[in-house]
Amino acid sequence: MKTILTGIRSNSVLTLGNYLGALLPMVRLANKHSKDSNINIFVPDLHSIISDVDGDLRSNIIRTIKYYLAAGLEINENVHIYRQSYVPAHSELCWILNCVATMGETSRMIQYKEKSKGQESCNVGIFDYPILMAADILLYDATYVPIGEDQFQHIELTRNLAMRFNHKFGEIFTVPAKTSDQIAFMGVNEGIRIRDLLNPEKKMSKSTKAENSKIMLDDEPAKAAKKIMSATTDSLAKVKFDMFNQPGISNLLQIESLVTGVPLQDVISAWAGETRYGDLKKKVAESVSGMLTVFQEKLAAISDEQVYELLEQGEKYANKVANVKLLEAQKAFHLR
Ligand code: TYM
Repeated sequence: MKTILTGIRSNSVLTLGNYLGALLPMVRLANKHSKDSNINIFVPDLHSIISDVDGDLRSNIIRTIKYYLAAGLEINENVHIYRQSYVPAHSELCWILNCVATMGETSRMIQYKEKSKGQESCNVGIFDYPILMAADILLYDATYVPIGEDQFQHIELTRNLAMRFNHKFGEIFTVPAKTSDQIAFMGVNEGIRIRDLLNPEKKMSKSTKAENSKIMLDDEPAKAAKKIMSATTDSLAKVKFDMFNQPGISNLLQIESLVTGVPLQDVISAWAGETRYGDLKKKVAESVSGMLTVFQEKLAAISDEQVYELLEQGEKYANKVANVKLLEAQKAFHLR
């Protein structure tokens, strides 16, 4: 059975970017493949502590898992939900991989460069972040890792570490699919990057200060609609998907496609040649606010107990699988 795996940090309420870039694609893929694939959804809580956490991490984690359920994740015996720190094999394998990875390749990670920029002294966790991420993936022989575009470089690093390890010690790890195959598996044309509504050259991020630049999953639907209506566009007066010259309009088309589940090409064709940006904004605002209304209603109906039950089963499963793989890696180095 193939494994499809993903994780989302729980440092705060998530953005529409997290939701459309990683959470919803994972839910759609899980529901499609869970009869014949393992679906591993975990919360990388050790990755959370590289930076500040808004509120209480433990309750943020429970909320993140509820997000998956509210987005429509169907549970069966192949769906496994767990917390990273409850499976100690993740940090154990991370250390082993630290001794396989080089300073050079880890220093080239764009996220590391961005997150450490301007910091007088950056914690070592920020640097080591992608190696722990590689451990998260390799422990479970995951082939597909649905993630947003900003994370693809980490998948390439994971592939390189797995190949290097296997070359030296034999076929221990499954090498995850390469970026182009990950994108094809997600059924999108290219990696997903939801843009900042006010400054569409940048990705939508919870750390951006301006309220209207981002939609949070707990925004009131009407407030989210207003944010879409005030999104930055351009003066070309022609709806066209062109991320380079018209990133604002292209972002709205992308959001519309992901929220409605209509393929991007069909959304682009439906709006091709339209000159009134207001009409497109109105439609996207309706789609997003409608989606948030349903999502928030479902979210409110999910109890903490439901989540703890899933975690108990998921963590039992994850420890069993991860410990077997860890032992193989330990044996490779004659630690066992
Ligand atoms: P995190 O929490 O920073 O991001 C979670 C996911 O949300 C996606 N994302 C976006 N996608 C599209 N547009 C945006 N504006 C946007 N903002 C965020 C990210 O690409 C990501 O998929 N390192 C991971 C967490 C992780 C992980 C793993 C993922 C740890 N171990 C193993 C997969 C497998 C991360 O970026 O989390």
